Amino acid sequence: MSNQDELLRIEGIRKTFPGVVALDGVDFDLRRGEVHVLLGENGAGKSTLIKMLSGAYTPDAGRILVGGEETRIHGAQDSERLGIATIYQEFNLVPDLTVAENIFLGRQPRRFGMIDRRRMEADAEVLLERVGVQVSPRARVRELGIARLQMVEIAKALSLDARVLIMDEPTAVLTSEEVEKLFRIVRKLREDGVGIVFITHHLEEIAALGDRVTVIRDGKSVGQVPAATPEAELVRLMVGRSIEQQYPRERADKGSALLTVEGLTRDGVFHDVGFEVHAGEVVGIAGLVGAGRTEVVRAVFGADPYDKGAVKVAGTALKGHDVVAAMAAGIGLIPEDRKGQGLVLDQSVEENLGLVTMRAATRAGLVDLRGQREA
Ligand SMILES: Nc1ncnc2c1ncn2[C@@H]1O[C@H](COP(=O)(O)OP(=O)(O)O)[C@@H](O)[C@H]1O
Ligand SMILES: [Mg+2]
Repeated sequence: MSNQDELLRIEGIRKTFPGVVALDGVDFDLRRGEVHVLLGENGAGKSTLIKMLSGAYTPDAGRILVGGEETRIHGAQDSERLGIATIYQEFNLVPDLTVAENIFLGRQPRRFGMIDRRRMEADAEVLLERVGVQVSPRARVRELGIARLQMVEIAKALSLDARVLIMDEPTAVLTSEEVEKLFRIVRKLREDGVGIVFITHHLEEIAALGDRVTVIRDGKSVGQVPAATPEAELVRLMVGRSIEQQYPRERADKGSALLTVEGLTRDGVFHDVGFEVHAGEVVGIAGLVGAGRTEVVRAVFGADPYDKGAVKVAGTALKGHDVVAAMAAGIGLIPEDRKGQGLVLDQSVEENLGLVTMRAATRAGLVDLRGQREA
């Protein structure tokens, strides 16, 4: 490797938040034309690390070198100027603007002082084509699904001529077909000489896409290995010990079921789904995006109706399609889209919690605000 191939180097980065050491000495480097995977468990510090590069946070200690020169990155504009583009887990697009407006936000081409819409849309079209996504530059971002949002973000990164593209768990929300498409785009960018920082905890994606892997554990970089490293070794680095037994043995004395789902069917959505959950158990529901996992749990919680089958709590059947009954029986649901479905973002923590406890805190038809606050 010649020095010109080094796009980025991070040395001994530290970052603390009140009461938390998020990063405690991380080293990392990125070369032209490589996919460098950042691997680590939840909370290891991956997102915090990339936020140092996007300018969202500044490090407490350590050095960042871009193209061999020590640099300070204060804010998104510094990052952009250095050719670094970041695609966050939660996208940064403006829902009510069009695709083209989002791509060129703040940099719209102008003609006689006015935004040159025609040119902006034509330029957007070229970028979208490069990414290989079929979406109109005039479509409102609000109308797009997750996969297309991500493609628009990538198009935006291309428009900035980014030399470094950072992607924080981009595949977590994609179907397997969409993942394939994303991989094709990433490989093409790599051929063009872009350096890509790719965060994932899907091990099979590392061998499929990566060149090198840096493993982060508890805020420290604990190893840098080739992407072809066997999965067992990657897991050992990630969790700090070898895992012979990935799942605990089923307990013999688990008692009767707390939750029983029998033959649950919603025509055209899911068919004959059944499982039991016992006290003290964690039961995983596996499947690809689109397989119906979310739809099943929504039906169990009463948020959606079902056509056949039963949901029982401690042996008693619940009325279908009745969230209040499900909550009264002691079921809670943390939905997939927590910002969209789980919380009212403009209200306080107290008000959000109050939405769940309001019924219990209502006295003589009035919401008992004091009771709500205490609860
Ligand atoms: N803004 C913040 N304030 C306080 N603690 C934070 C903040 N951001 C991250 N952390 C903490 O830093 C650690 C690393 O988090 P993060 O970088 O999000 O991990 P990862 O992306 O690897 O899951 C966690 O313990 C997390 O709770
Ligand atoms: Mg993260």
